Amino acid sequence: MSEDVLTGGKINSVTRRGNIVYRTGGPWVPAVHAVLDHLERQGFRHSPKPLGVDDQGREIISFLPGESMIRPWQPVMFTDDALVQATTMLRELHDATHDLILPPETEWRGGPAGKTAGQVIRHGDLGPWNTLWEGERLTGLIDWDFAEPGPPLTDLAQLALYFVPLRGEGHWRECGFPRRPDFQHRVEVICAAYGAFGPAEIVREIVRLQETAMAEITERAAEGRYPWTMFRDNGEVERTSAEVDWLWDTLPDLFPGPS
Ligand SMILES: Nc1ncnc2c1ncn2[C@@H]1O[C@H](COP(=O)(O)OP(=O)(O)OP(=O)(O)O)[C@@H](O)[C@H]1O
Ligand SMILES: [Mg+2]
Repeated sequence: MSEDVLTGGKINSVTRRGNIVYRTGGPWVPAVHAVLDHLERQGFRHSPKPLGVDDQGREIISFLPGESMIRPWQPVMFTDDALVQATTMLRELHDATHDLILPPETEWRGGPAGKTAGQVIRHGDLGPWNTLWEGERLTGLIDWDFAEPGPPLTDLAQLALYFVPLRGEGHWRECGFPRRPDFQHRVEVICAAYGAFGPAEIVREIVRLQETAMAEITERAAEGRYPWTMFRDNGEVERTSAEVDWLWDTLPDLFPGPS
């Protein structure tokens, strides 16, 4: 049986043969597969099963059902229920990894890092494009390359950034919203579903996350590291900076309170 190319991603080569997916590998795969193994043992239902590495160094994982949520979004994404499903899944991921212990020299895609008290394993690229849906049901969370230890709030802020979405006027239009989304309501739905943080904490963390992302692109691209070189060449720093400006302009009205 030959391999079919799976499109939709921008970073890796991804192919499928039957129920198996092959993705570009790297030094981070052992850590990611240890996390995926742990998640399977914990009964987390949304991650692919890790199946090792092939003779070309590609990671092998199970194929999950569903369609990835690329833009323009499918109708379910405009509902509160989609936000609740995605946030509940994230809470389950964090609860399942809270007590996972990993050695300090563990190699992630971002570099070596241990896991300290209070940290969870973040997915690290929590966009709708990395979630799979069958109609109105969330069936999977894929593309775990950027998983690493971190605070739960950072992952939750990333989910809000991408799922509300809080990335500027052009972006929500591209997602397919017929009119300006009720940003405040959508953030509140996410807060209620996660149950540990308030809207102002999330919005402040989004700004911090975006600023960290810009610094990482600049630093890691200067070291010649892929995919940050591609992010830099594609104008991600400028785009992210514009998103942060929009957030500052838009959110004082939405989230009054100390910043
Ligand atoms: N385990 C899986 N089960 C089902 N489909 C998958 C799986 N992994 C990847 N795919 C499909 O392949 C596409 C690309 O995969 P993936 O997100 O891993 O690529 P990528 O280049 O790493 O993406 P990104 O640009 O988000 O980093 C996905 O949109 C999805 O349709
Ligand atoms: Mg992806």
